[in-house]
Amino acid sequence: MIAVSQHPAPTLARAQHPTQQIFQRDWLIYRKMVDNNYLFHREAYACLHHVLISEMMRPFSFLDVACGDASASVAALRGTAVARYEGIDLSRAALDMAELALAELDCPTVLNEGDFAELLPLRSEPADVIWIGLSLHHFQTPEKLGLMRAARALLAEGGRFLIYENSSPDGEDRDGWLRRLEAQRPFWSAYDDAEWEVVWNHISRADYPETPSTWAMLGQEAGFDRVRELFVAPSDLIRLYSFD
Ligand SMILES: C[S@@+](CC[C@H](N)C(=O)[O-])C[C@H]1O[C@@H](n2cnc3c(N)ncnc32)[C@H](O)[C@@H]1O
Repeated sequence: MIAVSQHPAPTLARAQHPTQQIFQRDWLIYRKMVDNNYLFHREAYACLHHVLISEMMRPFSFLDVACGDASASVAALRGTAVARYEGIDLSRAALDMAELALAELDCPTVLNEGDFAELLPLRSEPADVIWIGLSLHHFQTPEKLGLMRAARALLAEGGRFLIYENSSPDGEDRDGWLRRLEAQRPFWSAYDDAEWEVVWNHISRADYPETPSTWAMLGQEAGFDRVRELFVAPSDLIRLYSFD
C-alpha cells in the first residue's frame, strides 16, 4: 500500500529553482545517466545492498532521502529485512515513477513530496537506515552539517546513515572536481550536445563536492561515532560513506 503525501506549497519552493529543472522537467536525461551507469549506480547500490544484508539483520525501516524514482533503492532492498520504506523527493515526475517501482516491495511504503531540507528537521519518527543518494552535494558545507545533524537525531539505536555523494580526493577544490567531471564528456556518449548542456548546466551550478577529510569531519561534528568510506567510484568523482 503506497501513501503519497504532498506538503504545503512553501516546501516546494526549491522545486522552482533552475538547478532543479533536470529533475522536474528532464527526468529522462538524468535517467540516461543511470541507465548507462555513468555515475556507477550499479556498484554503489550493490554496496548499499551489502551493508543492508550484512549489518541490518533485524527488520528495519528505510528512509530514502531524495529518492528520485526509487528504482536503484528497490534493487538494493531486494532480499533484505526491510519492514518499512519512506521516500522524500521534490519531483512529482520522479515520485510517480517511484510509486510504480515500490510496488515490488513487500512492506508498507510512503512517499512524501517536499524539500528534505525542510522536512528532515521537522520529523520525529526514527529510522533504522537513512540513505541519501546523490543529493546532499547540492548544499554548502555548513548546510550539509545541519542536515547530517538532523539525520543523526532521527537515527534509531544501531542504525546507519549512508550517503553516496560527489567527492574530491583531499587537496582538490571544486573547480578541479568540475574539470575532471567535464573530462568525462567523451565517455558519456549517449548524450547529444543539447542533453549534455542540460547536464553540465545542472552540475556546474548545483554540485558542491567534499573531500574525504571534510566528510569525516562533518560526520564527527554531526555526532556519529564512526565514519567508513565503503566505495570510491572508478571515476573518483563520487564516494559512499557509512556513518554509525
Ligand atoms: C541525482 S537524483 C538522485 C536520485 C536517486 N537517489 C539516485 O540515487 O539515483 C537527485 C534527486 O534529488 C531530488 N532533490 C534534490 N534536491 C532535493 C531537496 N532539497 N528535497 C527533496 N528532493 C530533492 C531531485 O528531485 C532528484 O530526484
